[in-house]
Formats: sequence, structure tokens, C-alpha cells
Amino acid sequence: APFSTPLDVLLDRVEQDMQEDLVPAEIFNNDDVFRAEMERIFTNTWVFVAHESEIPKAGDFVQRRIGLDPVIVTRDGKGGINVLSNYCRHRGTQVCQTDAGNSRFFTCPYHGWTYANDGRLVGTPLMNRAYGEPLDPNQWSLKRAPRVENRKGFVFASLSDDVPELEEWLGGGAWMLDLITQLHPDGMRVAGPPERYTVNGDWKTAGENFAGDVYHLPTLHFSVQEVDLIQGIQGTCEIGRTYEFENGHTFIGHAWTEAIHPGFTLWGYPDEYKERFDLSGLDETQRFVVDHQPPTVGTIFPNLSFIRIFSPLPDGPPAVMTSFRQWQPVAPGKLELWNWQFVWNFQDEESAQRDYVGGQYCFGSAGLYEQDDTVAWEGVARAAASPWMRKERLKFNYQQGRNSPVDDAPDPDWRGPGVHRNSGYGEHVQFNFLCQWLRMMKGESATGNGTTEGTQA
Ligand code: FES
Ligand code: FE
Repeated sequence: APFSTPLDVLLDRVEQDMQEDLVPAEIFNNDDVFRAEMERIFTNTWVFVAHESEIPKAGDFVQRRIGLDPVIVTRDGKGGINVLSNYCRHRGTQVCQTDAGNSRFFTCPYHGWTYANDGRLVGTPLMNRAYGEPLDPNQWSLKRAPRVENRKGFVFASLSDDVPELEEWLGGGAWMLDLITQLHPDGMRVAGPPERYTVNGDWKTAGENFAGDVYHLPTLHFSVQEVDLIQGIQGTCEIGRTYEFENGHTFIGHAWTEAIHPGFTLWGYPDEYKERFDLSGLDETQRFVVDHQPPTVGTIFPNLSFIRIFSPLPDGPPAVMTSFRQWQPVAPGKLELWNWQFVWNFQDEESAQRDYVGGQYCFGSAGLYEQDDTVAWEGVARAAASPWMRKERLKFNYQQGRNSPVDDAPDPDWRGPGVHRNSGYGEHVQFNFLCQWLRMMKGESATGNGTTEGTQA
């Protein structure tokens, strides 16, 4: 693209500009940046691939992506979960051509090499005449992701062996995931396959928005108040609370009870849910969080995000939606949004359906919030690719909170992991996400204290 900056120069510039709480626009749509992200981030760390409820039975599989690479996530006959490269070892054709299903074998459509659902090569057509003897499966089976872990139902894989344990990588993010998903011993499940749609925006734009952009709610999403979906959207910055963890994982919550919805605990779940929840596995701070400032959105670096909000539906109690979503990088300035709605296993069909419908109403391809967001994100990618703006070396402003009278300093009384701030102002969480991005792009240790404490004014 015209005026595009060489990668090393650009990364140095990012580092310099971030000292001033500025970020070069170009990183959100640049060919070299994108290629380096695939190599230095997506091929180099833990990436979410599936929830175990998507492959409950032997033979179940789903086709997924790790960065640009298609992988097959299978449940084999022994109950194990495998994350296999979807490239045939003969010439590379995709051996699995469907999104999901149940099969003991994958047969390549090109010449028919056949692999068991644990990846083992088990057949080559016309073997005697073509090869004389069976090919060694130890050498010619599907490539496997070197690291796979199933953490409480969430399956992550890493294409690099040189990564910390998943639990260590997630750090405080795991503590947060527990208070979101571990409220009932039966757990949660996906309500269906992921809905997918293309957005002409960068995966980082979505990631930083869900890392905790509270500031956009009263403006971009004002229409949801106008149609009575939510009250008090103008006050959401005032009741915003942020959580920054190591390695770029971040969340924001809202202290709904304080101003907008008195008595509103546990995301506003109906009483019959709350009675069934068992919070005994949570620590004291986690219980405080779910009651007083439950996380609304969050991002597990690099590209798994979360949202749980209430969604009033006609006739009956409000639905409470839970979505985990993934920002799949497709090309510079282009992502595919994968949206899984989650429900509790204890819910009956009707109430699960209600939460699902409420969820799609807010965050689905035609969801009221989702449509607002994706249009705005596409503008970021356009600015980032603009020849004029590249010539101008356009920088984005992350300086919010510098001179503001609002106290957005880390909460000295916080007893949980990471850094907590009793404010929705400040853009610290977005910065935390981008700091991790920069560390990995510069090839620095992928783990470390990633919070912005002390690094941002
Ligand atoms: Fe798969 Fe030839 S490419 S069998
Ligand atoms: Fe939004």
C-alpha cells in the first residue's frame, strides 16, 4: 500500500508513541503487520479452539482456525481431544471439508489418503501398486498442535511448544473466567454452532473494544436506550470498573446496583437462577465482583472475548445473554466474527432458548449492539489504510484520563489478581491489550506483567 511503513520502523514508532499514550493508526491495517501477527502471535501462543460441549461424543469434530490455519478439533474413541492440522500430508488439500460432524475417519478428497480421528494415517489408496508397503504413520499422520488443554470445558491449543502452562498464561484471566462460568456445578454449554460474519475491521480493534471500551456505550449504543432495551446508558462510564491482568487479558464490569438498577446482583439473573447458583467455589473477592460489579465484557489475549448482559424481552423476566466470541484474523483490516451463545446446563429448553434469543437480539449478526459496533470498527481499518493518513503518520489518542478529575488510579484495596480501577474512564484496558501485542510483535517474552500500572500516565 502507498506510504506503508516497514515493519521494524513501525514497531519502533509504536513503542515510542505509546510512551505518550498514542498509537500509530497504521497498525490496524498493514500487510507486514498482519503477516508478523500470524507468525509472532497466533502461531506462538494459546488460542481458543472449541468448547467441549461442541464435541461431546466419540467421533464428534468441529473445524476451527488458529490464525490463518484450519484445524480439526476431534473427540477420539478414547475420549481424548485432538487438535489436528487440516492439511493432508500428501499435497496439503483440506481433508475435512465441513464445519462439524461425526466421523471416525477423514478421507482426503484429492487422492484418498485416510486418517483416523486422532490424526493417524490409516490408509493410502492402491497401496501395493503405489507404494509397495504401508507408509509409516509415525511419519505421515496429520500434524498435531503441540499443546492442547481443556480448561473447565474451554479447549485451547498452541502451535508452539514453547509456551507456559495454559493456567499460567491466563493468570488473572482464569480467575475471572471462573466467576463467569463456574457458578453452577453442571457448567455451561454452547447453545448452538457459532454464527459467523465478516467484518471489514482489524481483529485488534474488536479485541480492544471488548477489552473494555466503556466510553463508546453512551454514544455508539445510545439507540438501545431509545428503544428501551437498557436504561441509563449515559451513566455507564461512571459505573464502569476495570480489571487488567498479565499477558494482556482484560475485563470491564459495571457497578449496576449503585446507580441504575438498585438490588441488581449477579448480572440481573432472575431469582430462580440465583437460587440454583452455587458460589461456594469462588473466593471472597470473586463473590464481591459478581454481586457488585460483574464483568460485562472482556478479552483473553489474543482473540477470545466475552460478553454477558441482560436483554429485556417482552412477556417475562429479562433474558441474560452470555456470548464468547472470537475475532478471526482473515486479512489486513478484515476479520471473521465467530459468536457462540452460551447457556447453563441446568436451564430447561424454554429458558435456554429465551436467553439465546435475547442474546441474538443484542449481539448477533442483526443484533442491536453488534451492528453499531461493526460499522464503527470498519472506519478504523479505513483510516489505518488511508494513503493520506499514512503520509500524515496519523496517531490515535489513548490519552483519556490524563487530566481528568476522575480518580482512575489502581484501587489500593483490591484483593483480587491484577490491577483494578473503580472507573470506566482512562482507556487503560485497551492499552494493556496493545502492550501485550507490542511485546509479542517485538519478540519479547510472551509472558510478564502486562498491566499498565506504572507504564501509563
Ligand atoms: Fe491428500 Fe493427495 S493431497 S491424498
Ligand atoms: Fe459496543
